[in-house]
Amino acid sequence: MTSGRIPRQFIDDLLVRVDIVDLIDSHVPLKKTGSNFVARCPFHTEKSPSFNVNRNRQTFHCFGCGASGNAISFLMDFSHLDFVEAVEDLAAYVGVEVPREAFNKSEYALKQDVSSLYDVLEAVANFYAEQLRNTEGKVAIDYLKRRGVSGEIARDFSLGYAPDNWGALAAQFDQKALVDTGMLVQKEDGKVYDRFRNRLMFPIRDKRKRVIGFGGRVLGDSLPKYLNSPETAIFSKGKELYGVCELLANNNKPAQILVVEGYMDVIALAQYGVMNAVAALGTATSKTHIDLLFRFSGELVFCFDGDQAGRQAAWKATETALPSMKDGRQIKIMLLPQGQDPDSLIRSEGLAGFNERISQAQVLSDYFFEQIASHLNLTSLEGRSQFLVTAKPQLEKMPLGFFRDMMFSRLRELSGTHLLDIAENPTKLMRTSIAKQVLSAKNPRSNLMRRIMALLFQYPYLAKHIDGFAEDIDAMQIAGVDLLQDALRLIALKKPENSAVLLELYRDSPHYKTVNALIGMMLNLPEGGELGEFCGALEQLIRQAKTSRMDVLIEKVGRGEKLTAAEMQEYKMGGKA
Ligand code: UTP
Ligand code: MN
Repeated sequence: MTSGRIPRQFIDDLLVRVDIVDLIDSHVPLKKTGSNFVARCPFHTEKSPSFNVNRNRQTFHCFGCGASGNAISFLMDFSHLDFVEAVEDLAAYVGVEVPREAFNKSEYALKQDVSSLYDVLEAVANFYAEQLRNTEGKVAIDYLKRRGVSGEIARDFSLGYAPDNWGALAAQFDQKALVDTGMLVQKEDGKVYDRFRNRLMFPIRDKRKRVIGFGGRVLGDSLPKYLNSPETAIFSKGKELYGVCELLANNNKPAQILVVEGYMDVIALAQYGVMNAVAALGTATSKTHIDLLFRFSGELVFCFDGDQAGRQAAWKATETALPSMKDGRQIKIMLLPQGQDPDSLIRSEGLAGFNERISQAQVLSDYFFEQIASHLNLTSLEGRSQFLVTAKPQLEKMPLGFFRDMMFSRLRELSGTHLLDIAENPTKLMRTSIAKQVLSAKNPRSNLMRRIMALLFQYPYLAKHIDGFAEDIDAMQIAGVDLLQDALRLIALKKPENSAVLLELYRDSPHYKTVNALIGMMLNLPEGGELGEFCGALEQLIRQAKTSRMDVLIEKVGRGEKLTAAEMQEYKMGGKA
């Protein structure tokens, strides 16, 4: 697997080759009803099935939660993959290799082939796990026992032991790959030695289950307590979290994820049945971490030590999280008693006690305002103005939405000012944006336009039947016509085989969501009725557009305004039409 652009044509072919019904059925068993296949939606909780998969269109749509897309979107959402990962998995499913367009030379050197790095780390993880079972590994087993870690958990997390030996790895694995993954440290004279020696080893896996690095703990009190793999081509501490792979193996869509500080916290919690904890790798929680976790779950609970450092980390995490707080996402902050961590707490208070603490965690909104207010006097104007000045720039980092609106209105209440009215945020503007107007269900004409576009996106072949209408469409001055023209052009040019391929052409377009919704729209057509419906609706729309255009011109003439030559022409034509 080399990096490089995936050719567009390959993606289109892939979407034609795969059958989305088989693909989804292998993840979520489908039932056939009429021409559709249905299931209970994997993206939200529901009792009766509203998740539909359509073989002709090669798309899925949930009438309950609105999730929709093609085979690539399904893998992205279901398996939490990014676009390239989803294409790779889909190719593997179909049994083909992903071709890559070559980079120019220098770029190519940077993007080296990393598959050998994954392979060596997998082999090293197995080696360490074996060592744990050897006589040499007894020290580590004893350590695990002392800390109350069961054999089962050690196996679930593939814990291992790095022997007390400077040359255990180089003897058996490819030296270059070991150096490139940071498993060997290379001295100036070129000599190499094992980075991890006499340590309990925690393999760190990515969400695709590949080993990407290790954490290693000393068995005694010497320092440093933990050693981690350095940053490498496949390991970035700002992006990866410990326990993600194990969490997803247990539950693909956890209701909540706990973010804790240490490897041993994740392990101890798992042992007590709390399978939804992950830990940052000795770094602060980054925005990338937060966005990654929000792809798996709508609610994150940050657990921090109650000491000064922990409280600072909690505030830092809150600031980092604000730009990710889209509607429907929630963060809670849980501060533990001083000197305790989740590992020690769950051992002393048990699962029930720990769950009780989770349920009492503070929601981000309360925590945010409380923290800012805590060192201010809100009864004075000065204090309130300070409050405003501190909170406002933070809240401005939030994405547009209801949650942001509500945070601002809380800020208004708490600071007792109405000055925020204008500066507050442009959400109201957003809601009336043209894109929304175009397809708003209230306007009957836009309803017609919506139906025409849904027909076109669901049956791309209809574009061939547009000839008689092309001129009138171009002359139409109504909302949505741009997208219609764009789609007609694109279909003529790319000749997409089905809706899934057409949708893919829009993936990076601002219209992606709209197109996706149109493809999912319920049309209730009789078998084979799309062509008649499409032509009829187009004629009607064109007639309506002409009439209202005439109304405008007539009004203009009525006011005694001069028409341009083009308008004059239109005026005459319209009268006859
Ligand atoms: P802690 O010092 O809180 O360790 O570090 P812990 O998780 O409670 O470990 P135990 O219980 O003593 O075994 C929290 C995390 O910070 C990183 C590690 O990721 C650790 O899990 N850390 C800590 C390091 O990277 N290096 C260190 O020397 C210490
Ligand atoms: Mn600890």
